Amino acid sequence: MAAKPTVLLTGASKGLGFAIAKILLGTFNANVIALSRTRGPDLQALADAHGDALMAVECDVADEAALRAAVARGIDKYKALDGVILNAGVIEPLGPIASEDTTLDQWRKHFDVNVFSLVAALKATVPTLRKSTFGGRVVFVSSGAATGYMPTWGAYNAGKAALNSLCRTIAREEPDVTFVSLRPGMVNTAMQEQIRNRGGEAGMPPEFLGVFTGAYETGKLVDPYDAGHVVAALALRAPQSISGDFVDWSGDACKEFRRQ
Ligand SMILES: NC(=O)c1ccc[n+]([C@@H]2O[C@H](COP(=O)([O-])OP(=O)(O)OC[C@H]3O[C@@H](n4cnc5c(N)ncnc54)[C@H](OP(=O)(O)O)[C@@H]3O)[C@@H](O)[C@H]2O)c1
Repeated sequence: MAAKPTVLLTGASKGLGFAIAKILLGTFNANVIALSRTRGPDLQALADAHGDALMAVECDVADEAALRAAVARGIDKYKALDGVILNAGVIEPLGPIASEDTTLDQWRKHFDVNVFSLVAALKATVPTLRKSTFGGRVVFVSSGAATGYMPTWGAYNAGKAALNSLCRTIAREEPDVTFVSLRPGMVNTAMQEQIRNRGGEAGMPPEFLGVFTGAYETGKLVDPYDAGHVVAALALRAPQSISGDFVDWSGDACKEFRRQ
């Protein structure tokens, strides 16, 4: 067995993904292949601090060829792949489904990132995950939106529902790999800032927008390092018995994966 597990993580430059990268390296002593369009000073500092254990690749996950090349480079470097965390995601376009303010092209771009990149990543990684000596695992970073109906989040709601569907289906196709879809709660990241700043003008009804501004103002947003710990732990330890499930980071199914 390889001494250290290797995890591929998308969307590592900031927010929840950056916290996950830091936890995988610092708490779980894993090798990390970190993909995001930008590197940013935080990820660069993490790369400087962890040397060989972190491979940061600037890659747009919507570009299938670039994604496959980055995965291949990572597997070639670490000679294995044990976990995959599909975290990269965007929320735009925001606006009512029937509004002319959002275009089909914007919806297609959203699906390229939030849905089709997942299919490409699974095609590129599952064959290697099947051979993992740690037991291969995939964590899909989902959202309450997957089963919700937040007005003006049409693309995001549909994309996260599709993500959950991919997780359920592939779990039945691939018995040698464990797949989990996780709801991380309302996490204190740039995406929440975007909702607060852009939600009103995009037409989010005040009673819905107020849930997010209220959580921010009262300090109730989830710390990325709390939700991130659950994601990292699931990527390395999720039991086969929950393969295909959609779990809440704060629920019973994740109790043993939360940081103490
Ligand atoms: N924040 C919340 O309350 C919340 C709640 C539920 C679910 N989530 C989910 O959690 C995940 C992380 O969100 P976050 O809140 O941390 O958002 P964030 O702060 O906006 O970070 C998004 C990450 O995704 C990367 N990314 C976006 N498009 C990409 C692309 N085309 N290729 C590669 N990387 C890309 C970004 O990096 P670059 O810009 O450098 O590419 C960044 O690292 C998302 O899937 C989101 O849907 C968040």
